[in-house]
Amino acid sequence: MRSDAIPQGRLYAELAHLMPVITPPGDYAEEAAFWRTVLRDSAVPPGAGVLELGVGAGHNLSHLAGEFRATGVDLSEAMLELCRALNPGVELHRGDMRRVRLGRRFAAVLIHDAVSYLTTEDDLARTLETAAAHLEPGGVLVVAPEHFTETFRGPALETSAHQRGPLRVHYVEYTHDPDPGDTSIEVLMTFIVTDGEGTRVELDRHVLGLFPRAAWARLFARAGFRLETRAFPLAGLDRPYELLLGILE
Ligand SMILES: C[S@@+](CC[C@H](N)C(=O)[O-])C[C@H]1O[C@@H](n2cnc3c(N)ncnc32)[C@H](O)[C@@H]1O
Repeated sequence: MRSDAIPQGRLYAELAHLMPVITPPGDYAEEAAFWRTVLRDSAVPPGAGVLELGVGAGHNLSHLAGEFRATGVDLSEAMLELCRALNPGVELHRGDMRRVRLGRRFAAVLIHDAVSYLTTEDDLARTLETAAAHLEPGGVLVVAPEHFTETFRGPALETSAHQRGPLRVHYVEYTHDPDPGDTSIEVLMTFIVTDGEGTRVELDRHVLGLFPRAAWARLFARAGFRLETRAFPLAGLDRPYELLLGILE
């Protein structure tokens, strides 16, 4: 089977129940501590309103929601359901970060790994416009691109094993760049799932964006943001974990 024949985005639909198994909320504690540091350093006070675009299952947000008044937006109803169960106090909306308008402003807008799903400069520009439209003057945008063109190394293979109650998942992830001439990469996911009924194999495919640093800088500036970067050492990562900060000017 050619990889492009594999259906896309199943992890955020019929396979969403595997999300808390392969990346449980506790795995985000170290990362979320960096986000808290960045928000505090940016003078976002406790209790301030923060908006996360592409909130997913709300695993990262679950470590911040106690300190801030959080609102989340995501495309996937299955992910919003997981987020609702984990973060009962968080206001959630179904929407697309490229065009959603909630009609109010926040002290901070967060876009965690969901930003990787923007695969064209046009989509990135629209999303940065969404962020600007939801920020108070001087508000801060925090973005976590997973890869930059300059440092992307592919193909890369990751495997891991997980268990939650009677459910066991062996996970294989293959990330590669089928066309170095465009701004996207492909992630192929294999889930070997064992439960009371036996073992089955599920395939999924995700297409993610890959942009040079200069493109991020240009698009942040065009949307009215002053760009700063913050790098943190994240356990198990062979490079610094990097956050892009946009201060709305
Ligand atoms: C990796 S998951 C996010 C997980 C999240 N960081 C967490 O801590 O649970 C990526 C999410 O991005 C969402 N997404 C992708 N494109 C989107 C878009 N254009 N607008 C809103 N959400 C989007 C997907 O539905 C998915 O829930």
